[in-house]
Amino acid sequence: MTDAERLAELRDLIRHHEHRYYALAAPTISDAEFDGLMARLRELEARHPELVTADSPTQRVGGRPAEGFATVEHLVPMLSLDNAYSDDELRAFHERVIRVLASDGAPPPEVAYVAELKIDGLSIALTYEDGALVRGVTRGDGVRGEDVTGNARTIRAIPLRLARDAPGRLEVRGEVYLPRAAFDRANQEREDAEEPAFANPRNAAAGTMRSLDPAAVASRGLSAFVYQMVSEGERPAGHAAAMERMRDLGLPVEPNWRRCEGIEAVVAYCREWGDRRHAMGFDTDGVVVKVDDFALRERLGATTKFPRWATAF
Ligand code: IVH
Repeated sequence: MTDAERLAELRDLIRHHEHRYYALAAPTISDAEFDGLMARLRELEARHPELVTADSPTQRVGGRPAEGFATVEHLVPMLSLDNAYSDDELRAFHERVIRVLASDGAPPPEVAYVAELKIDGLSIALTYEDGALVRGVTRGDGVRGEDVTGNARTIRAIPLRLARDAPGRLEVRGEVYLPRAAFDRANQEREDAEEPAFANPRNAAAGTMRSLDPAAVASRGLSAFVYQMVSEGERPAGHAAAMERMRDLGLPVEPNWRRCEGIEAVVAYCREWGDRRHAMGFDTDGVVVKVDDFALRERLGATTKFPRWATAF
C-alpha cells in the first residue's frame, strides 16, 4: 500500500468515527483510539504536505482568521415558522392545510406529517459541491446571510465530506447549537475570567458563530443538526425520505423525528415530547410539524413570512 492509499484509508476511517461520535452520538472506539488515528494522519500528512486536502479531518481550523464576514444571498429565502400554542391550534393548522388543498383540487383523504424537535440555536445553510463542504451561511434576514464557512468547518458534527454517492451540488439547512454541557463549561470559564456569562445556549452559539477566530470557535464545542434539503438535482418524494437521505449522506439528523399519519398522531407526539425534550443534552423550544409530501407542500405554498405546510408547536 502506498502512503497516498494509506492516507485515503485513514481519512475515511476517521470520518466514519467522527460521524459515529458527533452525528450519531454512538462511538465504537475510545477517545484515545480516535486521538491515535488523528495522530497517525497528522504524521503521514507532515511527510506528504502535497497530499493534504481541504476536506481532510486535520484541516477543520484554517490558518488565518477571516476579516469580517461577506454577505451572501440565499438560493431560496430562509423562511420563519408560524406557531400553534395548543392542541386545538394544531388541529386548526391541519384544517387550514385541508382547506387550501381542497380549494386547489381534490383534498387528500389524510395528510401525513413529520414531527421533529425544534432545536434552539441559529439556522445555517450548508452547501456541498461534489461531496465537499464549500460554504456555510447564517440565516441573516432570511434573504441574505453571513458567510461563516471557516467557523462551520470547525463544527465536528458537520462533515467536511459526504458519503460517496453525494449529488454534484447539495444545500442543506439546519441549526447550529451549543450542547448543554459545553454551555456550562463555557460559562464556568467566563466566570473564572470574570467575564459576563452567556444568558443561554442559543446566545452562546450565536455569539460564537460571530467570532472571527475559527480556533476559538473550534474549542467552544458547537454542534449541529440538519432538517431541510434544498438541492435542485435530487428530489425525494417527501420529508421523511429526505431526512433518511441526509442521514445516509453522513449528515447529522436528530433521530427522534416521527412520521405521523394524521394530526392526532402529531398531537400525541407533541404531548410525549412536552416533558421528554427537557431530558435532552441540548435546548429545544418545541416541536416542528411539517407536511411530509413535497407535492402537497408545493400546492400549499407560502406567505411572505411562513410556509403554509409547517408550524411550530
Ligand atoms: S424547519 C421553512 N425544523 O426554527 C421553515 N426549523 O422559528 C424551515 N428550527 O428559522 C424551518 N429546529 O432556525 C425547522 N427541526 C426544525 C427546526 C427549525 C429549529 C428553527 C429554524 C427556523 C426557526 C423558525
